[in-house]
Amino acid sequence: MIGSVGVIFGETGSHTFKFMVTDPALRRTDYVKVWHSTDGWVLCQVMSMTRSEGADNKDRVIASVTVIGVRDQQGLLRAPMTPFRPGDRVYKAEEELIVETLGLSDGGAYLGLLDGTDIPVTVDRNKLIQKHCSILAMTGSGKSYTAAVIIEEMMEKGVPLLIIDPHGEYATLKEPNDDADMGALAEKFGVEPQGYKNVTIYTPGNKKLCGYADRPLRLNGVNLKPKEIIEYVPSELNNTEIGLIYEAVNALRNDGIDYTIKDVLREIGSSHSAMKWGVYNKLEPLLEAEFLSDRPTPLTELFARGRTSIVDMKGIGPDVQQAIVAKLLDNLFEARKAGQVPPGMVVVEEAHNFCPEKGFAKTVSGDVLRAIASEGRKFGLGLLIISQRPAKVDKNVLSQCNTQIIMRVTNPNDIRAITKSLEGISSELEEEIKRLPPGVALFVSPDIPRAVMVQVRVRKSRHGGASKEISDEADKEDKPPAGGSLFKRLFGKA
Ligand SMILES: Nc1ncnc2c1ncn2[C@@H]1O[C@H](COP(=O)(O)OP(=O)(O)OP(=O)(O)O)[C@@H](O)[C@H]1O
Ligand SMILES: [Mg+2]
Repeated sequence: MIGSVGVIFGETGSHTFKFMVTDPALRRTDYVKVWHSTDGWVLCQVMSMTRSEGADNKDRVIASVTVIGVRDQQGLLRAPMTPFRPGDRVYKAEEELIVETLGLSDGGAYLGLLDGTDIPVTVDRNKLIQKHCSILAMTGSGKSYTAAVIIEEMMEKGVPLLIIDPHGEYATLKEPNDDADMGALAEKFGVEPQGYKNVTIYTPGNKKLCGYADRPLRLNGVNLKPKEIIEYVPSELNNTEIGLIYEAVNALRNDGIDYTIKDVLREIGSSHSAMKWGVYNKLEPLLEAEFLSDRPTPLTELFARGRTSIVDMKGIGPDVQQAIVAKLLDNLFEARKAGQVPPGMVVVEEAHNFCPEKGFAKTVSGDVLRAIASEGRKFGLGLLIISQRPAKVDKNVLSQCNTQIIMRVTNPNDIRAITKSLEGISSELEEEIKRLPPGVALFVSPDIPRAVMVQVRVRKSRHGGASKEISDEADKEDKPPAGGSLFKRLFGKA
């Protein structure tokens, strides 16, 4: 056995204790073990360390430790019933004990390595879908990158994916990673560069907006209900204007033939109301809205086994984006409930824009996202929610995300929003979140007894999140300086 790293002293509790550190290599967050007379080796983790001058003028380093526990015969994690003894020796925990105790060996989606070790962290794909997942962090800390890693892992098992991509960042899933550091990173994480073929890029607009699109995304524009029309109108409507839309649609319905927005406008134009031109002008943009069509994209094409569909919204205004997401996800959720499409996952980038917290904004897509968040698990429709402003995301949606991937966050409001939606996050973890280096995530899951730090694996496909010319206001906040090799930043070598 390797030598001990220290000796327990003072008062010991069932969940915490302190020890005098004898090994200068010991670090905060290291996993250690202590022998317990009834339970055997018990896994513990160093949560904080202090250094002071002892009576003999020598440095004293003291580590505060949390007891994680032992797996019993049934595989359940238990903490020892009696405290450790002062004088007991503390040892470095070996890989097997860490993996077994933390339950990291479940197979499934490979996220990366347990920080500071070579231990792979994997999560069960079904659980990820059923329990929803969020990726929260300030801008530039690796959210989209980590999302792409999860997407790659899902694609490899043919899970149907629909990606709401407001900035056009995910098209590069088709291309293999050509990062200059790829050689070293691929070896470290044990992955090979790869582009994915079964990825289709849809644009709700046209080839001018999104030149690399494979197909148009079209929603039904025939026989729209007044409520649907109102949701698609980019500007606010007053009650009189809403009334005029209802009147026009009712008149068309009485005729009994199919109608389009053009017919609704004609009907409004022939009204005798003095207010008609106001609503006419507000509805007119819908005539040019290419996403409304008499031949909508079938959901069975968008959401199918072995396929990934990216809805690339580049160049589309925020209100229209929200209306498209509202309708598309509404249709998808209904189709899933009716069993017309298989179980799968919906990825929502910039979620604060699509399901904002009350008081920030109101959007038409909020309702359906709340519905999927609360009921989606019953039907096997999972959400992957991504946001750089957790405080601005609907709390009902966030609290339904049982798997949380948290990367660096410094804004106090955002930290509060994160810790609120997580039970049992300690103040040490709050401190940890503020200091997470790029590419390292705090992974919180109901299937792992404690939050663990994961060094997210390198992508197999090329990362497309670098273009920032289309970023929104929030992107300008808290931006860490870019530049330098990431490999260097992560591993300290070039
Ligand atoms: N695990 C990782 N391995 C290698 N590089 C990474 C990793 N995570 C992030 N990066 C690098 O960090 C940069 C920022 O990552 P990313 O685009 O995912 O940030 P983000 O949090 O989505 O930012 P934004 O809020 O601006 O969308 C990327 O250019 C990427 O190369
Ligand atoms: Mg991003």
